[in-house]
Amino acid sequence: MADEEEQKEIRQELAAADAVRPEKFDIAIRVRGLVNQFGDAVIHDHLDLDVRSGEILGVVGGSGTGKSVLMRSIVGLQTPTAGEIEVYGKSLDTIANEEESRDLRRRWGVMFQGGALFSTLSVAENIQVPLREYYPRLDQALLDEIAAYKVAMVGLPPDAGPKFPAELSGGMVKRAGLARALALDPALLFLDEPTAGLDPIGAAKFDELIRELADTMGLTVFLITHDLDSLYATCDRVAVLAEKKVIAVGTIAELLATEHPWIQDYFNGPRGRAATTSHGRAAHDRTS
Ligand SMILES: Nc1ncnc2c1ncn2[C@@H]1O[C@H](COP(=O)(O)OP(=O)(O)OP(=O)(O)O)[C@@H](O)[C@H]1O
Ligand SMILES: [Mg+2]
Repeated sequence: MADEEEQKEIRQELAAADAVRPEKFDIAIRVRGLVNQFGDAVIHDHLDLDVRSGEILGVVGGSGTGKSVLMRSIVGLQTPTAGEIEVYGKSLDTIANEEESRDLRRRWGVMFQGGALFSTLSVAENIQVPLREYYPRLDQALLDEIAAYKVAMVGLPPDAGPKFPAELSGGMVKRAGLARALALDPALLFLDEPTAGLDPIGAAKFDELIRELADTMGLTVFLITHDLDSLYATCDRVAVLAEKKVIAVGTIAELLATEHPWIQDYFNGPRGRAATTSHGRAAHDRTS
């Protein structure tokens, strides 16, 4: 176990990491000319996208249009066929060394589609996985303190920490996944279908949590979702993936004003209209 002096050093290290200010960048993520191809299947064909710092950007598109592949490309889990991706002005492709790469990677947290936690680890241990990876010298007491703080932050009761994923409800598992994604105090949060499988009330509460965390922590959020209610409740802008590109980005009001048939079907179909009615005011407030 590290002594007191070393713990002090580690705390300073953590504070120093916070001193890097990603919010200096107006554009958190810049994607240019992105091509992703699997065999003959072209998923992205010169896709461009900017994610602004501090916004919640919703990402929508039909199933299989490459939303998850886009997210995986940005966080470096998928090597694109061509194109450029910069996060806070840096590209994982051209980054000089491992240390710089780690420094960039710890700026973001990811909740993957399906949101799997490690089933053999407790919630607290799950949250500690990224902490152990990036700060191997943290001692157990501090790890426990941080995990308890993250558990509280996502609205889980304190006794959720020692529980295993199988002992939790679906909504609690999502919150635990979110707590793990927030473990390193990221500036940037990637969420791939975070409310899938939740009942409408659970989903609405989760949306509220995302909005609240983003507002209080100044997070930039890349939110892939099929859930129209989530889009209305949480997103500042929405990017639409179709035809292997981002065909439109804007507020929902701006998207509604475009003629594109997929966009019209999506937002003005029966489900879209129901969401507009129940969130009309919120959408109006956000765009005005
Ligand atoms: N590693 C891979 N190898 C081959 N094909 C892949 C790979 N990853 C994704 N694909 C293909 O790329 C396409 C886009 O997949 P992706 O998972 O990004 O879709 P999506 O938009 O997230 O869909 P959904 O809304 O269903 O989650 C799919 O046709 C998928 O089969
Ligand atoms: Mg997906």
